[in-house]
Amino acid sequence: MLKGKHIILGVTGSIAAYKAATIIRGLVKKGAEVQVVITPAGKEFITPLTLSTLSRNPVISEFFSNRDGTWNSHVDLGLWADAMLIAPATAATIGKMANGIADNMLITTYLSCKAPVFVAPAMDLDMYAHQATQQNLDRLRSFGNRIIEPGEGELASQLIGKGRMEDPEVIIACLHDFFAAQQDLIDKKVLITAGPTHEKIDPVRFIGNYSSGKMGFALAEACARRGAEVFLVAGPTALRTEHPRITQFDVESAEEMYQKALSLFPQMDAALLCAAVADYRPESSAEEKIKRESTGDMILHLVPNKDIAASLGKQKREGQVLGGFALETQDGMSHAQDKLKRKNLDFIVLNSLEDQGAGFRHDTNKITIIDRTGEVTDYPLKNKTEVAVDIVNKLVEQLK
Ligand code: CTP
Repeated sequence: MLKGKHIILGVTGSIAAYKAATIIRGLVKKGAEVQVVITPAGKEFITPLTLSTLSRNPVISEFFSNRDGTWNSHVDLGLWADAMLIAPATAATIGKMANGIADNMLITTYLSCKAPVFVAPAMDLDMYAHQATQQNLDRLRSFGNRIIEPGEGELASQLIGKGRMEDPEVIIACLHDFFAAQQDLIDKKVLITAGPTHEKIDPVRFIGNYSSGKMGFALAEACARRGAEVFLVAGPTALRTEHPRITQFDVESAEEMYQKALSLFPQMDAALLCAAVADYRPESSAEEKIKRESTGDMILHLVPNKDIAASLGKQKREGQVLGGFALETQDGMSHAQDKLKRKNLDFIVLNSLEDQGAGFRHDTNKITIIDRTGEVTDYPLKNKTEVAVDIVNKLVEQLK
């Protein structure tokens, strides 16, 4: 369950900080990628060197890297994470989290984090029992944060009571159980097409488009995170994925994408067709570079490519779900509805270039999903990682 998961581990200034080392070891052993963010007080209790060695990642503490002055982006970190765990969490950090006091990297990351947050308090029994701490914890619960209750036992003060941070194994088990419950695509195979296609004119030229592949890759990661085995057929893009449940097939032209997608589809439970497939290709491509002197006006004769979505729509068997995209510049809704029917899709994701921040080359997107029952859902402008979650939620609903 933890394999490939991105976990931010927040470490704060408590004597229990040494247990963060055991948490990291346990998470890394289970295949998770751990990024430690430590508060200034945390560094008094455990060295960043220990934590970076165990996590195999530099530890982040300041807003700017001490080494080269680059900005540590809490926003990017918050989006990267599948979960954030603050262990140990002191009364001070819990108070800052509850009140949004963003005076260190850990709290800014917490405020930017869209992923679920787990908090493992560690403090003396009277501090833990104090109304202020309890009210702050209630506040965190009301935000949807999960509190991993401390255990009872002998504390650093030698007093006995509740406040001892829960054992690392139990904390890891909490994360494991949480991810297990999220695996609503387990045993499902999902085909995703992504990126542009390049239609060759000669050895140095092609017809392409502005698609970056970001949306398709975000979808692949979102499906894989939820347990699916993903087959990602990608047109030319610089993007790569490390997720162990994603197999990437690189293709160049629409014809290659068509062949690969059609050969994979019979074994799939679903397909999401996110690629911006060129509608036309040059009738023939030149063996040698076309020289300017040998052509007057350049006339390319283009012939239509096969429609992957429509072909899969024809082949689709009972139980398979097909989701497509429509990127439109005008009359988006009617074009999308037409494509939904024409290609026999179960749902279509409409993004309109009329909306600021939507479509190609952006990190954000603004979508509307229309399904075959006619249900229309509008979503606000979001980062593509979050948009992918909305689309995968729709896919899961349709698979049911
Ligand atoms: N699509 C496809 N194969 C093609 C063309 C499109 O699989 N040869 C898929 C896209 O991945 C997308 C959906 O069909 O999921 C709609 O793509 P779009 O380019 O908007 O549709 P077209 O049918 O090409 O219509 P037009 O370009 O005329 O708007």
